[in-house]
Amino acid sequence: MRVPVTVKVGLVALGTMGVYTGYANYIPQIQSKPPAELSLEGGDVTPAQLVRFGEETFKTKGTCEICHRIGQPGTRAPDLAGIGARAATRKPGMSPKQYLIESLLEPSAYLVPGYPPIMPKVDKPPLGLNRSEVWALVAFLESLGGTVDVKLDDIPKTAGAAATAGGAPAGIKLPGDPKAGEKIFAGKGGCVACHTAGKIGAAKIGPELTQIARIQTPEYIMAKILNPAGMGTVAGFPKGVMPPTFGQTLTAKEYVDLVSFLLTQK
Ligand code: HEC
Ligand code: HEC
Repeated sequence: MRVPVTVKVGLVALGTMGVYTGYANYIPQIQSKPPAELSLEGGDVTPAQLVRFGEETFKTKGTCEICHRIGQPGTRAPDLAGIGARAATRKPGMSPKQYLIESLLEPSAYLVPGYPPIMPKVDKPPLGLNRSEVWALVAFLESLGGTVDVKLDDIPKTAGAAATAGGAPAGIKLPGDPKAGEKIFAGKGGCVACHTAGKIGAAKIGPELTQIARIQTPEYIMAKILNPAGMGTVAGFPKGVMPPTFGQTLTAKEYVDLVSFLLTQK
């Protein structure tokens, strides 16, 4: 008996989807929806599951570890060990839970002393986390020395709305040429004297830029190149060392190519 064409197509489609699903689960960096069995939006989840999911988000899709380390000072950001307790001391009159939520959604509302405002809003591109992921992250942070009491209702309904409604948090597409930009990075721009990007360069005077597009907006990257001091100084690195002259020495095309190249670093 011949198998009807639609069934064959259906099976092929299912098989292909299966492969991709398996692949997406295998490689955690690939943006994937929260595991279905946790049904986070239904509220049908234990605090322990929530904390576990938050920890996973912290390490994978959230890419928090590019800046933060738990139990060891990171280069770009504060050590988050004990943050569940410390959150109570940050803003007088604000509960630890409210402080943590604000830290994720409006990072520059309170700046930890000594750090510049470089933390991206976690529910906006490039991180683009959804509401469930923000909820789970807060639970995970609370678990680091505090009490896990965050409810889904504590997270504003608008959180993550842009990321889910707007589709892919792809950010802007620049008309530049990344290949030409790579040459500027290693050549005329002189960036390799201080920075490493993937296989290019080995310098450690400035921060590693290998994953810069995963953690920073195009706007930040563009502004940092033209006016390094205006964007604050990345913690753990010397102030005033990045030259403020690229706006004069690079042509507009070289600049756009260079930014396009950096946006491939993720
Ligand atoms: C580009 C680097 C960067 C990334 C990525 C980043 N952060 Fe931050 N974060 C910072 C910096 C710098 C500070 C300190 C300045 C401030 O308060 O905004 C900070 C502050 C915080 C604080 C407040 C800490 C305190 O001691 O009060 C929390 C909580 C936090 N981040 C959580 C996260 C989580 C969770 C993620 C991942 C979803 C994340 N951050 C991603 C740079 C980053
Ligand atoms: C003489 C050394 C030096 C040169 C050359 C240099 N930088 Fe930097 N750069 C730094 C230092 C140091 C920092 C960190 C301190 C700060 O924030 O100013 C930095 C920070 C940055 C950041 C922010 C990284 C982050 O994690 O937030 C970007 C982006 C950057 N540089 C891009 C470039 C590009 C692109 C070039 C070439 C056009 C370049 N830099 C040339 C020293 C340099």
